[in-house]
Amino acid sequence: MWENEQQKEQRMDVLEAIASKRAVRHFTTQPIADEDLRAILNAGRRAQSSKNTQPWTFIAIRDRQTLQRLSECGAYAGHLAGASVGVALLSAGPTNFDLGQAAAYLQLAAWELGIGSCIASIYEPERAREILGVPDAYSCDIALSLGYPDPTATRPAAPAGQGRRSFDEVVRFERW
Ligand SMILES: Cc1cc2nc3c(=O)[nH]c(=O)nc-3n(C[C@H](O)[C@H](O)[C@H](O)COP(=O)(O)O)c2cc1C
Repeated sequence: MWENEQQKEQRMDVLEAIASKRAVRHFTTQPIADEDLRAILNAGRRAQSSKNTQPWTFIAIRDRQTLQRLSECGAYAGHLAGASVGVALLSAGPTNFDLGQAAAYLQLAAWELGIGSCIASIYEPERAREILGVPDAYSCDIALSLGYPDPTATRPAAPAGQGRRSFDEVVRFERW
């Protein structure tokens, strides 16, 4: 993961990670080390969930053919085809809110390690379940692409305010 103490000290803090993280949809061919992948998946495992039910199962996928097939299960899931690793987020529970928590943890942990990510909405969950051998009882609506950001990819310039509504528009204190 980190080769020496200096690298360790260069880790970002949570606020910095939140402020700087952008969706990354183009990746280099640099593989993600097993140790780093496990650290990312472990961060997802540590997420909070309603009544601590932890309804999730994560399937980490490196197989290129599987990633290609999964990328065809959603109109905006194409980036999975070029990911170093795809992670399908499965839930046995009725709500995706818990999965959203896990996804955020996974993505922020990846970002700290210099690994970019993007959510892929799966519009054809039955097809995705069949590809991955997932039982019917599990939702299969969300996957993540993970990989080192491709520096040559043309990315849209960072929009004003990092593409977020302003603080004053979003936040109110005490009352509406
Ligand atoms: C619930 C959810 C579903 C998303 N689905 C997709 C998707 O199918 N394909 C995709 O490329 N990005 C998807 N995204 C990523 C968003 O488009 C991205 O986070 C948003 O545009 C902000 O990008 P930024 O962080 O780079 O500013 C999804 C994000 C969320 C939270």
